[in-house]
Amino acid sequence: MLRSLFLLNSIGSALAGTILWDGRFNDMTSSTDLDNWSWSDQTGPYQYYIHGTENVTSYVNLDSTFKNPADTGSTQGVKITLDSTAYWNGQTMRRTELIPQTTAAINSGIVYYHFSMQRTDTNAPSEFREHQICFFESHFTEMKAGWISGESGTSDALLRWDVSSATQWNTTWEAGVWHNIAYAIDFDAGSVAFYHSTGADDLVLTVPAVTVSASSNGADWHLGVLELPRDGYTDATEDIYFSGVYVESGDLTTSVAGPGGASASSSASAASTSTPATSSSVAEASSSVTSTVSSAAAIVSSAPASVASSSVSEVVVLSTATVVPVVSSSSAAVTSAISSPVVASASSIITTPTTPPSTLSTVVAPASTSTAASEPEDDDDDDCY
Ligand SMILES: *[C@@H]1O[C@H](CO)[C@@H](O)[C@H](O)[C@H]1NC(C)=O
Ligand SMILES: *[C@@H]1O[C@H](CO)[C@@H](O)[C@H](O)[C@H]1NC(C)=O
Ligand SMILES: *[C@@H]1O[C@H](CO)[C@@H](O)[C@H](O)[C@H]1NC(C)=O
Repeated sequence: MLRSLFLLNSIGSALAGTILWDGRFNDMTSSTDLDNWSWSDQTGPYQYYIHGTENVTSYVNLDSTFKNPADTGSTQGVKITLDSTAYWNGQTMRRTELIPQTTAAINSGIVYYHFSMQRTDTNAPSEFREHQICFFESHFTEMKAGWISGESGTSDALLRWDVSSATQWNTTWEAGVWHNIAYAIDFDAGSVAFYHSTGADDLVLTVPAVTVSASSNGADWHLGVLELPRDGYTDATEDIYFSGVYVESGDLTTSVAGPGGASASSSASAASTSTPATSSSVAEASSSVTSTVSSAAAIVSSAPASVASSSVSEVVVLSTATVVPVVSSSSAAVTSAISSPVVASASSIITTPTTPPSTLSTVVAPASTSTAASEPEDDDDDDCY
């Protein structure tokens, strides 16, 4: 058994998740690179079309000071801004959002949507209005902040994780605290779990898998913020910071450093130095592996409590039983996305203009780009009552 553990630990870097889509801003020199993207030339990592009428630098800016300092896998983070002009397409909501530009299978199988987020005291998001943050079109998983439309009282200082508008987790949204988050989405089984930590701490399973109708067309996750209007409250400039944005399959990377580059070494050092509250010394040595196992087991069995209290030997057995299927199902999903029932149903439900170009073989819901461009999404009408 020890030999198995050492084997697992020694191939820890090999077990690190596969990045399906990398939304870190390492290859961008300026947010103006986002302007290179258009419906007719879908280049770069992001679709950039949900924003106000001014130049991109009014809404999106990059800087090394905008990232979680513990995120050594990112050279910079992004500051997303809502100002008095941040109205998109005649809507009454202020919106600045970036959408993954990829044909990778980020919408099937078991995938992890990673990001870190922070606010500061400067241009703090209003506590008097609802903010929908890092959401999917159907809102089956998202962060929310501020006064939620319809709630009692006038203000709300919470940062929440919501599943279909039901709050599963919350904390007071303090300035200067980085919240590291991964949505663990099982598009096939229909569930999402919430991994969270703050600062430099490794992600931990914070809310086990919640059953939900998880669906996406692969281009409807919104990095950024949508703010609902509210009578009697005037617009002020608001900023939210994000870093460490990527979608992963296979093993969950729990280190805030993220996969790639710094991740292997930082993951290894985290494994040898971190001290999970419930770990034995042996489990500690392979903490990155065991946390991965827990994540898979949580989704498969929805019994994270038993996993958490498992002995080391049980954890190893679980890893054999669950990690392999996770990896194989993910890789299968990559090559068979077009025939996946989940994808098919998603494409029939969602009518956003975010469909990949029809020249690509993995297109889910072919649509002409001219049609798409002339029919911008209005996904949040239903959220405005
Ligand atoms: C965006 O376009 C500009 C001008 O053509 C080019 O210099 C820059 O490298 C492009 N950015 C990316 C990320 O491709
Ligand atoms: C956007 O930037 C361009 C080039 O710097 C400038 O000429 C233009 O006036 C700007 N537009 C707005 C609305 O600020
Ligand atoms: C926030 O979380 C606490 C427990 O941590 C819970 O008691 C409370 O009901 C939650 N609030 C909301 C709005 O979900």
